[in-house]
Amino acid sequence: PIKDSVLEIISPNVHVDDEFIETDYEYKTSNVKRIDGKVQVYPETTALKIRTARNVPKLGLMLVGWGGNNGSTLTAALEANRQQLQWRTRTGIQKANWYGSITQASTVLIGSDEEGSDVHVAMNELLPMVRPNDILVDGWDISGLNLGDAMRRAEVLDIGVQDQLYENLVGLKPRASIYDPSFIAANQVGRANNVIKGSKMEQYEQVRRDIRDFKQRSGVETVIVLWTANTERFCDVREGLNNTMEDLKTTLQANKAELSPSTIFAMASIDEGCTYINGSPQNTFVPGLIEMAEAKGVFIAGDDFKSGQTKIKSVLVDFLVGAGIKPVSIVSYNHLGNNDGKNLSAPEQFRSKEISKSNVVDDMVASNKILYGAKEQPDHVVVIKYVPYVGDSKRAMDEYTSEIMMGGHNTLVIHNTCEDSLLATPLILDLVILAELSSRIHIRSASHSSTPWVPFKPILSLLSYLCKAPLVPRNSQVVNSLFRQRAAIENILRGCIGLPPISHMTLEQRFD
Ligand code: NAI
Repeated sequence: PIKDSVLEIISPNVHVDDEFIETDYEYKTSNVKRIDGKVQVYPETTALKIRTARNVPKLGLMLVGWGGNNGSTLTAALEANRQQLQWRTRTGIQKANWYGSITQASTVLIGSDEEGSDVHVAMNELLPMVRPNDILVDGWDISGLNLGDAMRRAEVLDIGVQDQLYENLVGLKPRASIYDPSFIAANQVGRANNVIKGSKMEQYEQVRRDIRDFKQRSGVETVIVLWTANTERFCDVREGLNNTMEDLKTTLQANKAELSPSTIFAMASIDEGCTYINGSPQNTFVPGLIEMAEAKGVFIAGDDFKSGQTKIKSVLVDFLVGAGIKPVSIVSYNHLGNNDGKNLSAPEQFRSKEISKSNVVDDMVASNKILYGAKEQPDHVVVIKYVPYVGDSKRAMDEYTSEIMMGGHNTLVIHNTCEDSLLATPLILDLVILAELSSRIHIRSASHSSTPWVPFKPILSLLSYLCKAPLVPRNSQVVNSLFRQRAAIENILRGCIGLPPISHMTLEQRFD
């Protein structure tokens, strides 16, 4: 049995000792060849060993943009959950929780019991994972406001919980950060009172010192750095600037203007051996940075939290195309009144978001040649407007028009209202917990005992479920479909404890 877990796996293929959970795993895939318009399929079984280290490290999370709506809401939520706070609302007592987090608030189907009923356990029961209560947070912000007042400025949480938390948070102050007005909207200038001075090299070195300082003072063993600061404009990508790792190094030394703050953070983080996650849409991960992560074997993941409208899109279009219905026009309007919305009201920052929101249906469209011709795409438009009054309560209005049988049309209209940061915050938690867990999972071929254990590739595509524009390793397919992304997480976690992927075949219930 795995200590402290409700799950006990009784199988000769699963070995648990103090250090590892190790499984003998039959990995089944299908390889495909396309020959003269035909599809040849070669089902294949590979004998693997999957090993998960059981020791969960003391985890530190450093947020870039700590004092923003997401950063302050996460910090407050961690504290509220740690203290199991309750507060009065107009409709009754509300308790702190982690709704919206797959690791904390969703379950995984394990199998059927003797009566044929489904049995589920919490996702975080499958393997040893960092517990939210144990995560220590630190970070940077160009605004020096302490976290207590940052939480008030955000206007996200109920006043009853804010008042209980204020004293706990007022002592937390973001570290000075890298401010470059050419990358975020001009309307942010009033916030920038906490900035690292000097050249880009000096800024990079300061960030590295900050990571080491946090590690040393807090005693955490592992640090993950996550960008939840304002959306930057895209930076240029070109030879001699950031196309290779060497380029990036010289660009940093030469203090070139086109090196973005987020890329400097990512470089510093990788050089400190810390996983770097990008929660915003900008192209932090220029080719040189990807090369750097690969060369140093450090995880990077992104881009852009997949919280609301895009999450629904990656479900709805999957459903429609999977049902043989052809979406032909997808129009998405948003308006929001928080600081993210203010920043996105500038054209170049909006453009980053527009790009990130635009490609989410590509894989689903490409999957169905019966509905779509070779270059055919649905019309897809994204509009974002800043309306201060609605604050963090974001409105998303989507219209999906599809062709149904014999020239018929089906138009779906969705109006979604919800607190933007209360959707994004649990995703930050999941990104961090799953990224840390991924660093403890290794596989190797079972046929040669001498083959080395292999970690996940540095571009951690397993986190795609949480990202609008998933970054994937070279020669890998981008998967946007939420069902597929979730199944990947679930089945890999199942594999780590020797369970087969969930197939929903339930033959035992369909045949005598
Ligand atoms: P926010 O504007 O409230 O917070 C951003 C914080 O970053 C601010 O406190 C700002 O002072 C700080 N900042 C700006 N540039 C910085 C820099 N170079 N270094 C350090 N700090 C810097 O925004 P919010 O709502 O917290 O969102 C954060 C990011 O997450 C945005 O880029 C947004 O597009 C992205 N995002 C948010 C989602 C959501 O809230 N549902 C969903 C998807 C992405």
